[in-house]
Amino acid sequence: MASNHGFTVWLTGMSGTGKSSLANYIAARLRQVGRNVEVLDEEEVGEALWQGIGDTKEDRITSVRRVGFVANLLSRNGTAVLVAAVSPYKAGRDECRKAIGRFVEVYVDCPTERLIQRDSTGRYKKALAGEIPNFIGITEPYEPPGSPEVEVHSDDETIEGGGLKIFQALLDLGYVTSEDMKTITGKKMKANPVKKARPNAAVAKSKDVRKVRPAARAARAAKPAAAKPVSAKKPAAKRKAR
Ligand SMILES: Nc1ncnc2c1ncn2[C@@H]1O[C@H](COP(=O)(O)OP(=O)(O)O)[C@@H](O)[C@H]1O
Ligand SMILES: [Mg+2]
Repeated sequence: MASNHGFTVWLTGMSGTGKSSLANYIAARLRQVGRNVEVLDEEEVGEALWQGIGDTKEDRITSVRRVGFVANLLSRNGTAVLVAAVSPYKAGRDECRKAIGRFVEVYVDCPTERLIQRDSTGRYKKALAGEIPNFIGITEPYEPPGSPEVEVHSDDETIEGGGLKIFQALLDLGYVTSEDMKTITGKKMKANPVKKARPNAAVAKSKDVRKVRPAARAARAAKPAAAKPVSAKKPAAKRKAR
């Protein structure tokens, strides 16, 4: 009876990679098969959950912890939760994974150059012009997941394509049924055996080969005329803006 159990799909990635789009895409389809669904999008929950929280690394981990707390309450009461949050630090995400258990981490990736081109909100332009000094991927590093359940590359995968990968993972884990999938996709999908148990967080950390995505690389790639050069050795740790 997989459909009686909640879970959290945690979409992490830099701003503009497609987290909200994917969360809403998945949510709409899960509702179609009668699931209770909540989307916790950082753009929407911030006011309620992050009041008084700043932008230091610790503050950002605290904000992720709060979203994770809500996701955990909902998940354990049978809700399918979609979290869409940059959540740049591995430690914060791993803490939520541990607390929630039924946790599907989705790394939504896209080259920074493409994000700067896409810039649907104009925030990259502002960040590169120095108007948002503390911006993940531009002046602050982003720490990619070491072994996410799903990776979506939104520079060459559609929302539908990425969505299908996420549904396949949910099916593999037994969080949705093949009947659900038939209704959602119109296709007969089979669950694949899930690979061996994930290593615990400490082991994962020591074995983590994926490098932190440095902030400076993005700034160099964009070569903005107006922006000041950013040094990789001196991350701007305590300035304002999410
Ligand atoms: N897979 C994709 N391929 C192309 N464009 C996408 C894709 N996913 C999202 N987008 C577009 O990128 C922009 C940012 O998407 P959004 O979901 O708001 O990102 P995020 O929530 O990660 O900041 C939107 O204009 C959206 O339509
Ligand atoms: Mg978003």
